[in-house]
Amino acid sequence: MRKTAPDRLPTHVAIIMDGNGRWAKQQKLRRVEGHKVGIDSVREITETTCDLGIPYLTLYAFSKENWSRPKEEVRMLMFLLGLYLEQELPMMMDRGIRFNIIGERGDFSKSLQAQFDDVMRKTARNRNLVLTIALSYSGRKEIIRSVRLLCEDVINGRVRRIDERAFRRHLYSPAIPDPDFLIRTSGEMRLSNFLLWQVAYTEIYVTDILWPDFRKQAFLDALAEFAKRDRRFGNVKDF
Ligand code: FPP
Repeated sequence: MRKTAPDRLPTHVAIIMDGNGRWAKQQKLRRVEGHKVGIDSVREITETTCDLGIPYLTLYAFSKENWSRPKEEVRMLMFLLGLYLEQELPMMMDRGIRFNIIGERGDFSKSLQAQFDDVMRKTARNRNLVLTIALSYSGRKEIIRSVRLLCEDVINGRVRRIDERAFRRHLYSPAIPDPDFLIRTSGEMRLSNFLLWQVAYTEIYVTDILWPDFRKQAFLDALAEFAKRDRRFGNVKDF
């Protein structure tokens, strides 16, 4: 079994972590058990990303649309999120991981927001990996928000030219480069409203593996596939 990392690695990996529910169903467990084991995958993929020296990892943990899931599941996901932050902070400090959030933070309880702030503040000086978790995130909403803020800039005379640079300044995390690799687990061929602006030239990889089973070797296999891709950014190679 191949254990080594490919020589050409992406700078920013984004992941749509899907399939926790199906994994739990296959094991004849409740959905929440899939989310719990999913956290183990989050840890293993984060640590592997860090070990490989990839500087940015963005994980889609909770979409704006996910609020409409059964109340009990949402409640458990919020509980697991709090637990995750509490448990993983020492690992983040140990490995030099900076924690970041994109999405509508104001949708969360005051205590979770305080926890987000605390973990972000404590990890702010870490330099090895920026771990961004998308929470109450919607790509369309991020675009609309950016357009609204840009309009305000124009009205206030702060911006004269509407272009990609001016727009980008109002994304949730403008300093983070666009992902060069997007992984989606559990087989669905869609973007599900994730990073719609940022994935313009991103290489997409879909695996049938369900998120709780997506571990180091599966990640290395995905990265090996990335290394083989011919990225042309709309250009041609030989003509
Ligand atoms: C998709 O599986 C997964 C989610 C909606 C939540 C992702 C959450 C985790 C991995 C655990 C919590 C993460 C953190 C960072 C605390 P699904 O429920 O849509 O699965 P299904 O499509 O098989 O039903």
